[in-house]
Amino acid sequence: MTALLEIKDLVTAFHTAEGRLPAVDGVSLSIERGQTLGLVGESGCGKSVTAMSTLRLIASPGRIESGSILFTTEGESIDLVSASEKQLRNVRGGRIGMIFQEPMTSLNPVFTIGDQIAEVVQLHRRVTRSEARTRALEMLHLVRVADPEQRLDAYPHQLSGGMRQRVMIAIALACEPELIIADEPTTALDVTIQAQILDLLGDLRSRLGTAVLLITHDLGVVAETCDSVAVMYAGKIVEQASAAELFRHPLHPYTIGLLQSRPDLDNRDSGPLATIHGMVPPPQDFPSGCRFHPRCSYATLPQCSSEVPLLREVIPGHFVRCHFAEEINL
Ligand SMILES: Nc1ncnc2c1ncn2[C@@H]1O[C@H](COP(=O)(O)OP(=O)(O)OP(=O)(O)O)[C@@H](O)[C@H]1O
Ligand SMILES: [Mg+2]
Repeated sequence: MTALLEIKDLVTAFHTAEGRLPAVDGVSLSIERGQTLGLVGESGCGKSVTAMSTLRLIASPGRIESGSILFTTEGESIDLVSASEKQLRNVRGGRIGMIFQEPMTSLNPVFTIGDQIAEVVQLHRRVTRSEARTRALEMLHLVRVADPEQRLDAYPHQLSGGMRQRVMIAIALACEPELIIADEPTTALDVTIQAQILDLLGDLRSRLGTAVLLITHDLGVVAETCDSVAVMYAGKIVEQASAAELFRHPLHPYTIGLLQSRPDLDNRDSGPLATIHGMVPPPQDFPSGCRFHPRCSYATLPQCSSEVPLLREVIPGHFVRCHFAEEINL
């Protein structure tokens, strides 16, 4: 069966005074119906640019230079890279829901919560105003907003951060999308609220069968919520596997470093990368060869700094972009 979303060789670059900056540089990812894919990596590795590209929300000076993004529902595929604005409006908020980090910037401060949920429903469904309002109320119930009848007429500033994020989830789910793209949906919230929101997302996902692209830098969140994981570094996917496999058996030195950098993990078996030094290079400073090699303690081969490693299937279903993957697998 074809995947719900299949991103192939996506390249998105910003054209600035510093030249061409390929923030996403040949990314391929696929999400199956009803599955949750975690996209992880440190700040600046290209996660949000990948998400925004998928929704064709990249603004100048950025543009998608090549690749395809096939979205297949009801047996029909559209390539979001070449789709018309009209097709995209139908997809965004309708068949693909979006949840971003800071709900305050996505909610309109001058309209009530009820009107904003109803608006999305009316945009994508043939319903009357009162049916849309009924749907809005239903959605507030679904995302467990307390006193939903009263909250319908509240304005965004009258709600807490956690409540606003629930409203964003209500908007994202109002039209029963097949896919939700959630970019750091809980990062701006405090820890207990984070857990509640993730719980809610997981519960809704299993009840409604919605697939999720979950972008986060929190590996703990991925371990708890995702079926599969893609690890991104400097514009490229460096490792991809099922979540169970990736956490049990990480093979890319970057992934190993990320896992060992988690404060809650037992570090007794720590290898050469107890923590990762330095930072993700920006596109203007991408190193030659393997982009991780300047930070990698396994990088002793001359080819690490000269040859770009391919993403290889080292174990069935487990893909790694490292010249040393077989040695690490021993
Ligand atoms: N509008 C822009 N103009 C130029 N460069 C940009 C622009 N937006 C993003 N970039 C660059 O693209 C790269 C990837 O950024 P992106 O926002 O996708 O990172 P991220 O993985 O989402 O990080 P974070 O975890 O901090 O959200 C970064 O080097 C960033 O500086
Ligand atoms: Mg981001």
